[in-house]
Amino acid sequence: MKNKLTPFVKWAGGKTQLLPHLEELLPESYQTYYEPFIGGGALLLNLQPAKAVIGDVNEQLINIYKQIQMNVEDVIHEVNELDKIKCSAERYLSIRKYYNEKKIANHVLDAETAALMIWLNKHCFNGLYRVNSKGFFNVPWNHKEVGNSIVEENLRNIAEYLNTADITIQAKDFEETCKSAKQGDFIYFDSPYIPISATASFTDYTKDGFTGKDHARLAQLFKDISKKGILSMLSNHNVPLIYELYEGFHIEAVSVHRMINRDASKRTGKEVIITNYLGRR
Ligand SMILES: C[S@@+](CC[C@H](N)C(=O)[O-])C[C@H]1O[C@@H](n2cnc3c(N)ncnc32)[C@H](O)[C@@H]1O
Repeated sequence: MKNKLTPFVKWAGGKTQLLPHLEELLPESYQTYYEPFIGGGALLLNLQPAKAVIGDVNEQLINIYKQIQMNVEDVIHEVNELDKIKCSAERYLSIRKYYNEKKIANHVLDAETAALMIWLNKHCFNGLYRVNSKGFFNVPWNHKEVGNSIVEENLRNIAEYLNTADITIQAKDFEETCKSAKQGDFIYFDSPYIPISATASFTDYTKDGFTGKDHARLAQLFKDISKKGILSMLSNHNVPLIYELYEGFHIEAVSVHRMINRDASKRTGKEVIITNYLGRR
């Protein structure tokens, strides 16, 4: 029996709510599972495939996956040490400064760096990961003073999964992560979404560093891998541009409840799940 695993970070675009819809549309079977925009990894952790290749351009996030795999007890210990002291604006800023100046500036990717990022993720506004032009994390405090930043058992179970399954974890651009995919493999693409306001001249915006050109590059990759018999599923906002980019594929619109929006009227939105195969239904 598999353990129930849940994301260890709160991540923008986290897929926990969309999971039931994604599950319904999964292919019947596949060989290696690919997730090139792993983020919080909700679908990976839910499916727990025996063989997987996961990636993300955020090397700090990828370091957490690697440290959980290699040094889970060190990560747990470091997070618990940080949690021992009640947080304040001053403490938050001093930990953020330490993370930026000692870890980011010196490219230190170790268990302590992973623990700091987990702690900051749980103590920053909306779980955002935003950096300035120097690459320094600059999200303000969310005013949370006490509480556990991790569920130890969940982290240990994730470590067990990452060590039992055959998993490749890489800090790379999505095209690079997908290079080894072959016929019969399955890729789930969950890139930063196209803004709802995007118009046909989509190349002129950037969201989380993901531009209109990147969306065009992703759509081209989706077409190329479809010709190779690689099964693919992609989620995004239900915007006209998606129907242009993914014309000819199966596009299913689904309703989701978005908690992150402070304006209640904007909490129900439609997203789309695109597949290059017919799902289980
Ligand atoms: C919508 S989030 C994924 C959410 C994830 N499915 C979850 O459940 O939390 C998108 C992710 O894409 C990553 N990303 C942005 N540009 C990328 C690129 N060019 N290649 C790979 N990953 C990228 C971001 O760092 C972010 O973690």
